[in-house]
Amino acid sequence: MRSEYSGEGLSEDQLAATPLEQVRRWVAEAETRQADRGDVVEPVALSVATVDADGLPNVRTVLMRFLDGRGPGFVTDLGSTKSREIGATGGMAASLTWPAMYRAVRFRGRALPVGRDEIAAYFTSRPWGSRISAWASEQSQPIADRAALVAAYERYAALYPDTGSPDDVPVPDGWGGWRIDCDEVELWAGRRDRLHDRLVFTRAADGGLDVADAWTVHRRQP
Ligand SMILES: Cc1cc2nc3c(=O)[nH]c(=O)nc-3n(C[C@H](O)[C@H](O)[C@H](O)COP(=O)(O)O)c2cc1C
Repeated sequence: MRSEYSGEGLSEDQLAATPLEQVRRWVAEAETRQADRGDVVEPVALSVATVDADGLPNVRTVLMRFLDGRGPGFVTDLGSTKSREIGATGGMAASLTWPAMYRAVRFRGRALPVGRDEIAAYFTSRPWGSRISAWASEQSQPIADRAALVAAYERYAALYPDTGSPDDVPVPDGWGGWRIDCDEVELWAGRRDRLHDRLVFTRAADGGLDVADAWTVHRRQP
């Protein structure tokens, strides 16, 4: 089955002055579309690619929890496979994809750890059960069966009971996050006859995603 990609496209005239503004605009439009039409489930689902120490690529989906001048970021287990791979190479790529809107964003760059204060602020905003499971799961490690996982959850639930306070569960040391300090941000917009638009912000100088002078823009063939 082939579907025609009848998206609105993206022209140089429409492109925001900075990558941050452009990505924020598209994320906001994806969230609005999900609210109105329900066909953009998890608008901030971010596919994160890493490479292991042997050069073998890996990919998985997380939720983009941060987006500011320092780059897109997510929270995860610092002992997980992805975190170990980030540690091995320092490089990362990621994409947001909204098929119903014929749009995607691609980020490439270097990994930066998210600060402990930001992690703590985000952790305390999570529901109690999610905070307990952050203690119960050693992400990416093998486990005998589901019962062992549930038993670990129950142990931590008894240790840190739900008092209704955001501070009833401490932030696990091994829980953290990563940002992509981007060198490149590509905006892809699907169009008819596969003549898609690809506009790419490439780093030209120091500065965040919110600094227009730090970026040049060029168009790539589809
Ligand atoms: C929609 C969706 C959202 C997810 N969000 C996260 C997340 O924010 N952080 C996370 O560590 N894993 C998240 N996961 C689980 C990851 O895809 C993955 O299974 C996990 O992080 C382990 O990956 P790793 O073994 O490569 O480190 C999510 C999965 C899906 C499908």
